[in-house]
This record gives sequence, C-alpha cells and structure tokens, in this order.
Amino acid sequence: MIVTTDALFRVAYGKYAVGAYNINNMEQALGLFKGHIEAQAPFIIQISKGARKYAGIPMIEAIIRAADQLYPDAIYAVHLDHGDEATCYSCIDSGFYSSVMIDASHEPFDQNVAITRRVVERAHARGISVEAELGMLGGVEEDIALDEKHAMLTDPDEAKAFVEQTGCDSLAVAIGTSHGAYKFKGQQSLHFDRIAAIQQKLPGLPLVMHGSSSVPQEEVQRINAAGGALDPAARGVDENEFQRAAALGVTKVNIDTDGRLVWTRVHREYFRDQPAEFDFRKPGAVYVQEYARFIVHKSEKLGSAGQLAAVREAVS
Ligand code: G3H
Ligand code: 13P
Ligand code: ZN
Repeated sequence: MIVTTDALFRVAYGKYAVGAYNINNMEQALGLFKGHIEAQAPFIIQISKGARKYAGIPMIEAIIRAADQLYPDAIYAVHLDHGDEATCYSCIDSGFYSSVMIDASHEPFDQNVAITRRVVERAHARGISVEAELGMLGGVEEDIALDEKHAMLTDPDEAKAFVEQTGCDSLAVAIGTSHGAYKFKGQQSLHFDRIAAIQQKLPGLPLVMHGSSSVPQEEVQRINAAGGALDPAARGVDENEFQRAAALGVTKVNIDTDGRLVWTRVHREYFRDQPAEFDFRKPGAVYVQEYARFIVHKSEKLGSAGQLAAVREAVS
C-alpha cells in the first residue's frame, strides 16, 4: 500500500529511520518488497531521473504496482530522488508519487529558496510533500582540513531560515556523507554535533541523510575476487550509527550503492563459477534472495524492523 511520506515520518520521527532505496528494475523491486515483509518494516521507494530514463516512466511505475499486488501487506511511500524542477512537476502531476525531492543545493541560497518554494506550492496543492537540500554533500576526505570540512556541512541557522522561507517538509542535510562507493578512506563518523545543532533549530523536522551506504569491505573483496576492480580502501557510513542519528531527527536514510554492490557480487560470482551458464534468471533469483536478506539486515540497523504493525495502525 502506498502511503504519504509524511505519514511514515510522523510515526518514525525520533524513534527510528525509514530506509529509502532506489530501484531500476524488477529484480530490485522483488527483493525490496520481500525483504521488507520479512523484516516487517515500512520503507520508501526512490525513483531517480536515471531510473525513469532507464526503465521508462510507465515501466517503473508498473513494476511497483505489480510488486504491490504480490506483497499486499507492504507499506511504503514512493519518492522522486534528486529531482530538478521540471521532473518534480512531472511527478507531482502524475499522481503516483508520495513525495518529491527538489535538489537545487548547487544553486546559491536565494535561488535554492526560490526554486524550492515554487515546487512546494505546486506539490502541497496536490497533497504531496517535498524534500529539499541545503549544504554540500561529499568530498569529506581525510586530507581536507577540519575547517574546510565544517564549511561544507549544513549550517543550522541557514537551515532554519531555509525551511521557514520554503515551507519544505523535510531537509537533506550535509552531515559528513557523500554519494557512491568512494566516500572516504579510513574510519569516519557522522558529524553528530552538527545533526544535533540542526535538530535544535528545527525540532520535529525530518532530516534526510543521503549517501548512507556502508560499502561493506567483504562485499568489495568478493567483487574483486570475482574479477571486479573496486578500490579496496573505500569506506562508507558505519551502519551502527543509524539509530543514534535517528534519535536526532534523521528519519530518512538513502541507500543505493550498497544494493548495487549486492547485484554486482551475485552476478560476478555466478558467472565466474558457472562460465557455461547463460540463463540470467538463475543469478537473478539468487540476487532477489540476497537483496531481500540485505534489506532485512538494513532494517534491523535502521530500527525500522518490526514496526509495520504500528505503522498500519497509524495510517488506517
Ligand atoms: O543519489 C543517487 C542515486 O544513487 C541514484 O543514482 O541517478 O544513477 O539512478 P542514479
Ligand atoms: P549511496 O550512494 O551512499 O547509496 O547514497 C544514495 C543516495 O543518497 C540516493 O539519493
Ligand atoms: Zn542522494
């Protein structure tokens, strides 16, 4: 059942984080729904512009509708990930999405405010909520000076002004993470002091953490042992920090790269071990199982596992 993103946030805020996963194809959808039913967890499906282009807009929506029929007990929201203004309007007008993200964080503050405000007005008129972004994600490398690092993080006072001026419903904040498999080298922690300072200025506002993949070393090693060439020094977010962040208002945690690593590991190992095989349904079925297992694990780390009954109660 598709629900509003707001409804999920209301139930989860301050208690646990809802996992937001990108999908592009049928196998990802099957694993995603299966895993969340096994974990009894609510979730958010993210569709990027790239996914809309790759699968085609009617196809990606049909995959979700079909998965919903196969897993009628699933409770989730459908969200546009990293939208530009035109794509936000297309999703708002389609009636299929629970929420959209307008990503104008690369623009100067005033421009970001103006664009976000236009999207908020149009979305709210249709009962759709809006995630906006403020701050610079990424590039938090070890060799960057501490001052420089802090300058890239979301400023709490700016965040308060931004939310007041735009009316956005949730805010993606730069708190030390970045997208992709190559986030940083060596152990890094989330900037909890910054998250706490933002929450203090914006109590009750759901915060969104992008770039939340953990890039498990074991996964990277298995991919490389099966012919891959990923940087073995790459590190991601410590998933044991999710719940501490959730207590400070981080209510949506975006994970895409880790799922791609599961896909790559399963398929590389399968064809390495079965070089004469060409029936792609065989590794496809393994991937669905493995992705579901991965989702159960993430749900436990996010604290969303076992919350489905409470969510059903709240939304009915
Ligand atoms: O943050 C972006 C997500 O990982 C989606 O990636 O634009 O390649 O679909 P994509
Ligand atoms: P990762 O690249 O860490 O999986 O982040 C995904 C994301 O933020 C999607 O918006
Ligand atoms: Zn992102």
